[in-house]
Amino acid sequence: MFEKPAELKKLFEEKLAGVTATADVEQLRIEFLGKKGSVAALMQELRNIPNEQKKEAGQAINETKQFVENAIAEKLEELKKLEEQKLIDACESYDESMPTDNDIGSYHPITLVRREVENIFLSMGFSIEDYSEITDDYNCFEALNIPKHHPARDMQDTYYLSTGQLLKTHTSAAQNTILRKYKSSLENGNPIRAIFPGRCFRNEKIDACHENTFFQMEGMMVDKDISISNLIYFMKTMLSEVFQRDITVRLRPGFFPFVEPGFELDIQCSICGGKGCPSCKDSGWLELCPCGMIHPNVLTAAGIDPEKYIGFAFGLGMTRLAMMRYGVKDIRVFNSGNLKALSQFTEKSFTKPEESKEA
Ligand code: PHE
Repeated sequence: MFEKPAELKKLFEEKLAGVTATADVEQLRIEFLGKKGSVAALMQELRNIPNEQKKEAGQAINETKQFVENAIAEKLEELKKLEEQKLIDACESYDESMPTDNDIGSYHPITLVRREVENIFLSMGFSIEDYSEITDDYNCFEALNIPKHHPARDMQDTYYLSTGQLLKTHTSAAQNTILRKYKSSLENGNPIRAIFPGRCFRNEKIDACHENTFFQMEGMMVDKDISISNLIYFMKTMLSEVFQRDITVRLRPGFFPFVEPGFELDIQCSICGGKGCPSCKDSGWLELCPCGMIHPNVLTAAGIDPEKYIGFAFGLGMTRLAMMRYGVKDIRVFNSGNLKALSQFTEKSFTKPEESKEA
């Protein structure tokens, strides 16, 4: 009996139990599943095993490999949830029991954040576009370089309607329509600069930091000679305005079929200033906004020549931004219809606490 796969599995389980950060999971993945990893080494050893035992040994290795793959995926999911919760917990909290002085109603916190971000982009020459909540498979996936049966669809558990249409899972669903709308203007020398906020829907299990109904703010810029530097500049300016301080950002590779290269944009943790603290899991950075250079297939699908034009796109999680901005630790507040909680957020809340004291 070939014992090594079982031993390896045990070793992996021990190591996995000690892992507390997503970066360490990646390390473990390389150690076990990488080209030169322990599973690959076991495969090599198959050569030395007598023929009659090969089948059984091969199966045992594959089972171990499958086990390691599944356990890594589960651990990543679990740590991501924990990290999100930490991020929210680290924000300043609001007090639901505070009396309000406002008898005439108030804006929803998402509306307040949306308007603020819209104003920032308006000042940078962007137009604000509207898009429906019901769309179709083509706009939500196919036009975004996500063909049928593409594994990327699994990341967005979709609500389909009996008409064959669907509830949009991300604001990127509007990209094709907006690119088409401005295509001729682009060809006349005017860059496309558009943002499109919207409500999105995914079949998520609801908890303090996950909702099946949430808001995103998508943005796109297309012109000749656009580069990643333009993307970084726009994101940095916008986030510095939103958080009312100078923000340091960094890009990490991230995969989305409709951008190439794709990134996750992180902002430097404001609590420790990048040194590392519990709220940023000692990394010094917080993940905030996926983005990237628009994939040539997406431009082509909208009739725009990718040889001539290039652009960037980003998808800002507006619900998350509102949580960070107002210290809302439970996402369910937003759709609760609980006026007592929701009317706590007035436009005044945008003033920094020190400033309001001075005034
Ligand atoms: N639409 C992506 C999502 O919801 C986010 C994204 C937008 C990524 C634009 C890259 C560019 O997950």
